[in-house]
Amino acid sequence: MQIARKLTFIAALAAALFLPNFAAAESATSTMKAIVIHEYGGPEVLKYEDVPRPEPKADQILIRVIAAGVNPVDGMIRSGMFAKDGNGAFPMVLGGDIAGVVERVGNKITKFKAGDPVFAYISLDSGGGYAQYAVVPEGDAAPKPKSLTYVEAGAVPIVALTAWQALIDTAKLNAGQTVLIHGGSGGVGSFAIQIAKARGAKVVATASIANQDLLKQLGTDVAVDYTKQKFEDVAKDVDVVLDSVGKDTLTRSYGVVKKGGIIVSLVARPNQSDLEKHGIRGVALSVEPNSGELAQIGKLIDEKKIRVIVSQTFPLSEAKKAQEQVASGHTRGKIVLKLAEEPK
Ligand SMILES: NC(=O)c1ccc[n+]([C@@H]2O[C@H](COP(=O)([O-])OP(=O)(O)OC[C@H]3O[C@@H](n4cnc5c(N)ncnc54)[C@H](OP(=O)(O)O)[C@@H]3O)[C@@H](O)[C@H]2O)c1
Repeated sequence: MQIARKLTFIAALAAALFLPNFAAAESATSTMKAIVIHEYGGPEVLKYEDVPRPEPKADQILIRVIAAGVNPVDGMIRSGMFAKDGNGAFPMVLGGDIAGVVERVGNKITKFKAGDPVFAYISLDSGGGYAQYAVVPEGDAAPKPKSLTYVEAGAVPIVALTAWQALIDTAKLNAGQTVLIHGGSGGVGSFAIQIAKARGAKVVATASIANQDLLKQLGTDVAVDYTKQKFEDVAKDVDVVLDSVGKDTLTRSYGVVKKGGIIVSLVARPNQSDLEKHGIRGVALSVEPNSGELAQIGKLIDEKKIRVIVSQTFPLSEAKKAQEQVASGHTRGKIVLKLAEEPK
């Protein structure tokens, strides 16, 4: 009896004195699953590993990631294309799009609290989204659209912001104008068509035969199968071209824009002398995180003015397969990594 009480006391003392320290030690060394690269290279450098869970700084939120969108740029970062821009700290977690639940917030955060559903575009400086937890500055996240699942919300940030910043911020697209959207069935294109229609513009969009139905479902006025028809035979005197294809498609686009119009390119810098020859403007866009714009996009989604197309999901451990599919250049809508079950 005496011994038993003594042991109980010791257990209680241990619990009181030591267990919190164990807990603290555990949180300091908590790990999570993530897709990490230790060097630049092909899809084979993607490793599914345990890494330390990030801690939010005062101006950051820690998000439990439920879904992470996969973008062509993820593969470009993996291959080292942007190594010169200073992102070279290995191990590096890839992934720029996330949807999830706020786990914890830094002490300067005012807009979010634990438990809030959010989506965000994580810039390269903040770390990556192919992970069970991610940290983002408050200004890069917005409330998740209520009408979307987390998988759908994870498909939105980068491509929708790109389409918004191209058409609304850069081209200043207005009602009644005509826009030609190349690659209308892809991630950026599928949002661009719907943003342009919500703006009251007329949309001409290109895709292959397999995606003509999708172009129409998204609201395209004139759908062009680029494998059978030259877009320049259909689109003439447009106000805006949004080009996510480049090369020959960009070269042939100068002639379809009316004087004073604009080409917004996502993949190449428009040629200055071609622009001058046609009396048009050209911009090479680089998308930026923007929580205000993300919230406006979320509002259009909840108003059913924008649909989100997710064609395939993969578990986190199969990020390599997901990136290989995206690298095909023929994704319909978006591909998303699903990291956890949808919270109730
Ligand atoms: N600068 C930036 O800030 C920025 C931001 C986002 C994206 N991007 C870039 O923009 C590009 C597109 O991104 P994304 O996420 O939309 O890619 P994505 O989802 O892979 O889109 C590919 C789409 O392009 C279509 N396509 C392929 N070849 C085409 C052609 N010759 N003419 C017309 N459509 C064609 C495909 O349709 P079919 O299968 O029917 O051919 C497919 O639906 C990528 O290179 C990406 O890196 C740049």
